[in-house]
Amino acid sequence: MEEIERSVLKIGIGHINIGDEERKAISEVLESGRISEHKKTREFETRWAKYTGRKYAVATNSGTSALLLGLQTLLNDSRFPRIKKGGRVITSPLTYTATSNAIVLSGLEPVYIDIDPVTFTLQADRLEDMLKKGGKKNCMVLPVHLMGYVNDMDAINMLAEKYDLVTFEDAAQAHGSKYKGKMAGSLSLLSDFSFYIAHNIQAGEMGAIVTGDAKIQKLAKKLKANGRVCHCAVCTRSEGKCPYKNKNFDPRFTHEYIGYNFKTTEFQAALALSQLNKVDRIINRRRRNVKYLNDRLLEFSDIFQLPVYSEDVSYLAYPIIIKKPKKLPRKKIMRELENRGVEVRPLFGCIPTQQPAYRSLKKKYDRKLPNADYAGRNGFYIGCHQYLTGEDMEYIVRVFNEILKGI
Ligand SMILES: Cc1ncc(COP(=O)(O)O)c(C=O)c1O
Repeated sequence: MEEIERSVLKIGIGHINIGDEERKAISEVLESGRISEHKKTREFETRWAKYTGRKYAVATNSGTSALLLGLQTLLNDSRFPRIKKGGRVITSPLTYTATSNAIVLSGLEPVYIDIDPVTFTLQADRLEDMLKKGGKKNCMVLPVHLMGYVNDMDAINMLAEKYDLVTFEDAAQAHGSKYKGKMAGSLSLLSDFSFYIAHNIQAGEMGAIVTGDAKIQKLAKKLKANGRVCHCAVCTRSEGKCPYKNKNFDPRFTHEYIGYNFKTTEFQAALALSQLNKVDRIINRRRRNVKYLNDRLLEFSDIFQLPVYSEDVSYLAYPIIIKKPKKLPRKKIMRELENRGVEVRPLFGCIPTQQPAYRSLKKKYDRKLPNADYAGRNGFYIGCHQYLTGEDMEYIVRVFNEILKGI
């Protein structure tokens, strides 16, 4: 086999091609003269809600904001008296840190149960024990569909109902994944998505919550705009049609709640719409790439746990868990891959035991989350995105062969 050149980065985790469609969408925003969120954002919300099988979507400026907004909405909704400061939110320990951060920043307590070692989903059979322990302080279950693998939402929802809890999916990484024929994000009271670069639908930075509940949508729209009174889809004030026109206050500057500014821009919505037009192609291409890598890397399955392939999964990336870390430490394989131009990232880490920001929880969770600890220490991922060519895929396989033949 020819020696592989160590050169500039070739295979990224994600990529966006700014083609004619994207340029046109951005030009339309520039020509409209309105760059803060407006018609394109509303169009994206309508189409994203439809795509995910929900009635409503509320766009935000990031997935982290979507998580915070969803939690703030529930905290402000009097229908959920158990959701209050200090409440326990049962969630996944293996995730991007935003999930836990949003819980903590909302004054709630993240409580972790271990994950399935293959799909990284919550071990639903551990959930009931945790619910019995927390009693009335439990208020929510917030599973994360990591890498596109959807949690066993039937089991989670059944227990949530039994213990009178709300479920909230973190579907940031699962655009278009399916569970028993239904879309990820449509399997709980509300859910969040991220459209950060490298996600299947990407807009640079943007997020959304989706829900079937009209009150949640209305409240979320207010809270994302500093808690203001108005929540119209598109402001009709300039046309003299504002529903508050006969009131003696300006609804844009009268604040019913203490909220945030999580509004997005028309540019982000325009880019997200251009991606949504091709969503099926994006997902299929990524799935095809995962299948290809699985077939070609099968011979290394004594060294690596490769991602489970499923037609129901919409893959964020290609996750690998090292089976024999003593023989092949993660640091070594990550370095070797990067040296050969294959971008690689650690599989986030186990939040309470491995993330410095959560050091106060380390002792409490020591040895309690063996699967998340293992994946957090020995897992990594590479890209499987839609712009990778057949040649790129072949290159990845050659790189793995070259690295692994020596060990
Ligand atoms: C599982 C998960 N939740 C939340 C987020 C936060 O999204 P953002 O980076 O758009 O703020 C991410 C980001 O990738 C994520 O992977």
